[in-house]
Amino acid sequence: MFAAQADGRTVLTIEGVAALDQLDPIQEAFLDHGAVQCGYCTPAMILCTKALLERSPNPSEAEVREMLSGVLCRCTGYKKPVEAVLAAAKAAPAARRAKR
Ligand code: FES
Repeated sequence: MFAAQADGRTVLTIEGVAALDQLDPIQEAFLDHGAVQCGYCTPAMILCTKALLERSPNPSEAEVREMLSGVLCRCTGYKKPVEAVLAAAKAAPAARRAKR
């Protein structure tokens, strides 16, 4: 997307996902499931997960894999990120809603 296409819209970056002293439940799920290795792709995975869970709170594994296919990860093989996203979807839907 070109920057001009975001004119007048809110842009969320990884720096805005966590509260000052508390990680977002999605970030916690990635850590808990060992879904972070070098970390290069992690911000994109977390932001894409956040967008997915906002439009589809209980995604299937196929939906998660389709979403993660847009993020290039050279380290994880995607298995653990898929597990983390599914766990985040199950673990804390109320916590995610509270952060909006
Ligand atoms: Fe290294 Fe994804 S964790 S590229």
